[in-house]
Amino acid sequence: MTDVRALLRRTADLAADFLESLENRPVFPETSVEELRASLGGPLPDDPNDPETVVEGLAAAADAGLVGTASGRYFGFVIGGALPASLAADWLTSAWDQNAGLYVGGPSASVVEQVVREWVCDLLGLPADASIGFVTSTQMGSVTALAAARYRVLERAGWDVGRDGLAGAPRVRVLVGAKRHITIDRALRLLGLGTPEPVAADSQGRMEAAALRDAIRTVDGPTIICAQAGEVNTGAFDPFEDIADAAAEHGAWLHVDGAFGLWAAASPRLRELVRGAERADSWVTDAHKWLNVPYDSAIVLCADTEAHRAAMTVTASYLIHDDAAYDQMNWVPEFSRRARGFAVYAALRSLGRSGLAELLERTCTCARRFAQGIVQLPGVELLNDVVLNQVLFRFESDDRTDEVLVGVQESGDVWMAGTIWNDKRAIRLSVSNWQTGDEEIDLALASFRAAAEASLATPT
Ligand SMILES: Cc1ncc(COP(=O)(O)O)c(C=O)c1O
Repeated sequence: MTDVRALLRRTADLAADFLESLENRPVFPETSVEELRASLGGPLPDDPNDPETVVEGLAAAADAGLVGTASGRYFGFVIGGALPASLAADWLTSAWDQNAGLYVGGPSASVVEQVVREWVCDLLGLPADASIGFVTSTQMGSVTALAAARYRVLERAGWDVGRDGLAGAPRVRVLVGAKRHITIDRALRLLGLGTPEPVAADSQGRMEAAALRDAIRTVDGPTIICAQAGEVNTGAFDPFEDIADAAAEHGAWLHVDGAFGLWAAASPRLRELVRGAERADSWVTDAHKWLNVPYDSAIVLCADTEAHRAAMTVTASYLIHDDAAYDQMNWVPEFSRRARGFAVYAALRSLGRSGLAELLERTCTCARRFAQGIVQLPGVELLNDVVLNQVLFRFESDDRTDEVLVGVQESGDVWMAGTIWNDKRAIRLSVSNWQTGDEEIDLALASFRAAAEASLATPT
């Protein structure tokens, strides 16, 4: 018999060893696919193996290919770390192994999601009775919210999409900002809503309200507008008041993709950026980004709870529904699912209202510190107004931008990725980790300084 307690203790040590090693290891691993295949691969064993040997072997073999995303020196994409309470709650979630599809599959898992719903609506200034679904990602949150939107706008046009499907349905027009996140397009594709109609965006990636008004004038019939809180490169926010006015005038459903930016509403200093977003019909935000909950974790909220439920609900004779409680499968595309609420609950409870505001504001201050430092380097052009936790910049040419970035990535001190902004190569820094402070920012600046000097010294 496996000694489970000994196994979990040993695993806890392995996990702590990894977290402690983050201080010294390169942020991005120095390995190759071939090396990882060699250490992780081999034939499937014919016979059972001792669990502790399996876990020890996995930890040893995977180690060389682990990215230091949990470290305060990681600035790539928009990736948060894992707050200690949230990480620990996530472990418990695995140990408890509740099937959080129905209340009867785990009453505490169901209730904790409702508690988080109340906290999140309060923190983000959303309607107190909005419905919630816990999903894997903003991608799946947008699928959920846009399914609710599709249900409602077609229902208003006299069409029951649940019963009649899409063949012969009135056309649903979907207006999106030119710089919406690509997950919106995929959500629409999965829902059979086709390619959206882009509305012009300004230099920061914000949807232009005047362009939206022009576009919506040409629209008659079922309409969805997708707005954005936090453009992935610049961190910019769409003008929600104007967009909400246009949506209200035309009876359109307004969805807000706030994968990271929606959390700005939880900070008194940043709240102004999201003003008007609370007037939307649906919102999605990640817990695994700025809230620093381990992957994968996101929440979708709908003001129109009836549409949300109508789009997602299922039943079968063998299920035990509890309408007095909250059966999670009525609000998400999954049937059986992980009890994601526990880790979100632990993150919010460990931070508290003030701790969350501090995390959000500190990371934004760090982004500004970096921006102020990076523009001191010769040839650097800052490409965004640093309103949030994102910094977008480039050197004087595409080649030099890429060269300096590679130098920084190879240093192992910090890691971030490149992007293309207005057809030019650029570098994006996202300060999303709960541990990042001045020290990490100064290290990033020093790393850029060294890579920029080295690139000038290299003959081309
Ligand atoms: C604005 C925005 N929307 C959607 C996404 C996708 O989020 P996820 O990976 O959780 O699906 C991102 C990712 O960075 C984002 O920035």
